[in-house]
Amino acid sequence: MAKQATETEKAVEFSEAGQKELQALLARYPDKRAALLMVLHLAQREFGWISQDVMKYIAEQLELPYGDVYDAVSFYTMFHTRPPGKYHLQVCHTLSCALRGAHQICQHIEEKLGIKEGEVTPDGKFSFVKVECLGSCGTAPVVQINEDYHENMTVEKLEQFLKTLK
Ligand code: FES
Repeated sequence: MAKQATETEKAVEFSEAGQKELQALLARYPDKRAALLMVLHLAQREFGWISQDVMKYIAEQLELPYGDVYDAVSFYTMFHTRPPGKYHLQVCHTLSCALRGAHQICQHIEEKLGIKEGEVTPDGKFSFVKVECLGSCGTAPVVQINEDYHENMTVEKLEQFLKTLK
């Protein structure tokens, strides 16, 4: 497992496997900047989320200004800038999903889990965010739970999911 920075341990560093993957990614792209998004995905897998220290580390690895890494992380909602819950719920609220009930789904999540958008339940089990189009508008509304898409979502289906995950 990769090292996350703590007060006593300053270095953020990819694991040995992560280092190898980084080198393989860098070899695949014409320049280091082009590999940024893939390296951020790697970092998220390694560290679980992307802290400022991780962003600095990536900037060093890719020889990019810190601000460029920060901009990319802030722009894409798939990157976590704080530790997510064990189950990270991303609800699309763009047009097709909005027209087909995304709002009710968000409301249900807030009521059932007792958290607002951007929050994590006190037990660290669930986190919830609204995101822009997940690219599956034909099966709206869509909720992504960790890596999996759950399409044609309804409040009833969501309720069943939450029960199985609890
Ligand atoms: S609008 Fe929700 S997936 Fe495209």
